[in-house]
Parts: sequence; structure tokens; C-alpha cells
Amino acid sequence: MSLILENISQEYPGPGGIPTPALDGINLELKNARFTTLIGPSGCGKTTLLKIAAGLTRPTAGRVLLDGEEVSHPTPKIGLVFQEFALFPWRTILQNIEFGLEMQGVKPSERRKQARELLRKTELTGFESHFPRQLSEGMQQRVAIARTLAAHPRVILMDEPFGALDSQTRNSMQEFLLKLFRDEHPTILFVTHNIDEAVFLSQTVIGLSQRPGRIRAEFSIDLAHPRERTSLEFNNYRREILEFLDRERKG
Ligand SMILES: Nc1ncnc2c1ncn2[C@@H]1O[C@H](COP(=O)(O)OP(=O)(O)OP(=O)(O)O)[C@@H](O)[C@H]1O
Ligand SMILES: [Mg+2]
Repeated sequence: MSLILENISQEYPGPGGIPTPALDGINLELKNARFTTLIGPSGCGKTTLLKIAAGLTRPTAGRVLLDGEEVSHPTPKIGLVFQEFALFPWRTILQNIEFGLEMQGVKPSERRKQARELLRKTELTGFESHFPRQLSEGMQQRVAIARTLAAHPRVILMDEPFGALDSQTRNSMQEFLLKLFRDEHPTILFVTHNIDEAVFLSQTVIGLSQRPGRIRAEFSIDLAHPRERTSLEFNNYRREILEFLDRERKG
């Protein structure tokens, strides 16, 4: 599915009634089955843009179109992996993954079957009866992704999903996400502060300015997967994006 962000601006009410502009005139087209990453200074509006794309926040101006239809509230077609949407601690891993299917009214035998399949894909077989606190952070993050995937979203919005992980776990989660992307072809909008991660995963990297976020740069990462993090080409992309971020930071 394609997702179009059309002329999106956002202002939040600030102290003393002075509005805080967070985004200014964002136009972005996420083509079907493309992997796009947003990168930009802290506070430039990345999370705000994802919330708007998800239909969780109404923008001050502009609109979001999913295959031509306006998104005005959350829809199962758009899956979210946000750190603030933690797992349900009182539910087992299998019950966490089944949650979305339960909400959709899928019958128990069917949703169990689908959840088990996702457990296999996320390499969590054997942990179905565990509770989230009994899993490592990387495993919990895989459960969160499996829970999102259970609803078969065609668009997935991910806000720094691997930000809290150590670098080894992070690398293996990136490989897992790429495999999933290859198998299922969702449209992905991903946010990270990590340039290496952006170059490893994305087909397109969008560079935002300091707040209020405006689109300043678009990098097309023309490297075949799997990508070699230490290759010359990989490093050239890294340098290009790093230089962009430095320029933006200095204003
Ligand atoms: N609910 C809110 N109410 C008021 N202001 C907000 C709200 N959410 C975000 N903001 C403001 O909007 C701006 C953008 O915030 P946002 O969280 O989108 O940035 P970000 O790019 O995701 O930052 P980070 O990289 O640190 O996660 C910030 O100045 C922030 O203070
Ligand atoms: Mg954020």
C-alpha cells in the first residue's frame, strides 16, 4: 500500500499560549513495499510525524492518504512499533501476539495457529507460555514486532524500535527485519538516530531539519542486500548522511 503525507504541519500549544511548531509542510510519498527511514535532530518532529501517519494525532494542516483514502483514526492496515506501546505484562507471549487478532474477532483456534507461526518466524518458539519480564529486551522487542505483524498490516511505522538494544542484538534485529521485509513486502517508515542502521536497512533515507521539521535531503541507498557494513560504498553513504546531520545541527 502507498501512504502519502500531504503538506503536513503541526503546532503544539506551548507555555503561555505560544504555539510550538513541530513540523512544517512535510510532503512525503511512501511507495508500496518500500523501506524509508527518517533521520534528523532530536525534537525535530519524527515521532509527531509517525503519530500523524498512524492516525493517532490530527495534524494542524495537511492530510494522510492510504491508497488514496484519508486516514483520520488508527486502522489495522497500519501497524505500529513504538517504545511506549509496551507488551502487556499480565499476558503470556502467545497471548500478547494474539491480542490484535482477538480484537479483530478471529476465532481462538485460528488466532493460536497464526500466533504460533509468528513465534516461529521471530525465533521465539518455546517461549509461548513465558511472560514478558522473563524475556531479554531483544526478545521482548521481537514479541512487540510479532504482535504488530499478527494483524497483517500493509504499512508498518517503527519509532526507534531497536534504540534500547545493545549493538549485537540490534544487528540481529536489523537482519530479522530485513528478512521479514523480503518475505512480506510491507511498506515501512522507520525512525532512527543511528546512521549505520539507516544505511543498513533503507532504500530511501529522508533527512529532516531542526524543529520545525522540514524535509531537507533525500538519500537513495543503491546497494543490494545483504549489505556489508564495512564496505567502501556503505561508508560513503554513512559519511554523506553524517555530513548532512552535522550541517543541520550547526544550522
Ligand atoms: N504532546 C505534545 N504536546 C506539546 N508539545 C509536543 C508534544 N509532542 C511533541 N511535542 C513537541 O514537538 C516537538 C517534536 O517532538 P517529537 O517527539 O516529534 O520529536 P522527535 O523528532 O521524535 O525527537 P526525538 O528524536 O528526541 O525522539 C518537540 O519540540 C516537542 O517538545
Ligand atoms: Mg521521537
